[in-house]
Amino acid sequence: MRSDLIIAQKRKEDEFITLFDDISAELDNYKAQLKGMRVLCPCDWDESYNEKTIYLKNKLKKKTKIVHCNFAKFLLAQAENYGIKSITSSGYNPANGKGIKFQDIDYSKYDVVITNPPFSQFDDFIKVLFDNKMKFIVIGPQTGVHYKKVFPYIMNKKLKLGYAKQLIGFQLRNGKKILSSDTGKQSGIPRACKWFTNLKVNKNIDEFVPTAKYNKKIHPKFFNYKKAINVPDVNLIPDNYKGEMGVPTTFISKYNPKQFDIIGKTSTINRSPKWVGDKAGLWIEYDKNLVETYQKKFIEKSKIFKINGRNVKIYAPFERIIIKAINKK
Ligand SMILES: C[S@@+](CC[C@H](N)C(=O)[O-])C[C@H]1O[C@@H](n2cnc3c(N)ncnc32)[C@H](O)[C@@H]1O
Repeated sequence: MRSDLIIAQKRKEDEFITLFDDISAELDNYKAQLKGMRVLCPCDWDESYNEKTIYLKNKLKKKTKIVHCNFAKFLLAQAENYGIKSITSSGYNPANGKGIKFQDIDYSKYDVVITNPPFSQFDDFIKVLFDNKMKFIVIGPQTGVHYKKVFPYIMNKKLKLGYAKQLIGFQLRNGKKILSSDTGKQSGIPRACKWFTNLKVNKNIDEFVPTAKYNKKIHPKFFNYKKAINVPDVNLIPDNYKGEMGVPTTFISKYNPKQFDIIGKTSTINRSPKWVGDKAGLWIEYDKNLVETYQKKFIEKSKIFKINGRNVKIYAPFERIIIKAINKK
């Protein structure tokens, strides 16, 4: 069954090990913010199933010499340099039920969570961290932006992407590496992963400078959400459009909260009519004047629906984030 295959694939992705170089490149940016913090790595059962403090400043507690997980390795190597107060790692192995689930941890003992959580539970993971008022730097799938419990934090500017544009790769438990520089389906996974954080990110978001111009043939209004136009590619965000725009998820890498407001996403806006069973949910109606790329999509993907006695030929693009430019003259 296809759904079984998807679940099996997700479980495998839950076990992807983060590369030392990815951790070091990202965490170095937060050095000043990590000073004096009690760090928890809650998905590292390489070190310990139950909570184990591997570093405790000024108290000569144990400083574990042999650590396996790259998060623990990196943090331990930098603990003094960063002025970290303590490092604790814990984990849970769903295969044998050993350990402590991230859902069951007493977060009051820690200040910041740093880890790569199981992607299949990313939605709950982010919620648990916010519910416990934790600071965090964690890895997740870019599509996680759309998850029900994640999106509101993105929209309210409480959750943002970190520094790295993409990860270098992951390692599998058998030692094999999946690198984003490779070709093939799996190499797309690290490319589609991001760091998510609620710490300060001071990256010079070079203001994204849209160069495209609004054009009805490229930017049609959605059939079932007339307030917004569809933008088929981030590079086609028009610089002269004042209203709402539905943009692809990849926009999130270029998102500068001073430049754009996020108003919602496909499933949160007030669409009418709704297409029962359609997850994408925003429709574009066929129009012979639309540019060639749309015509191709209509040939490949369109469906005809009878709406108010009229046959409407529509195609639904992937999920959209609805944005609006700030201070457009
Ligand atoms: C993506 S791996 C990351 C491993 C390691 N932290 C790293 O990046 O090198 C996520 C790990 O979390 C474990 N895990 C699964 N469910 C968990 C839960 N409820 N609580 C804590 N860890 C869990 C998985 O078995 C897996 O080992």
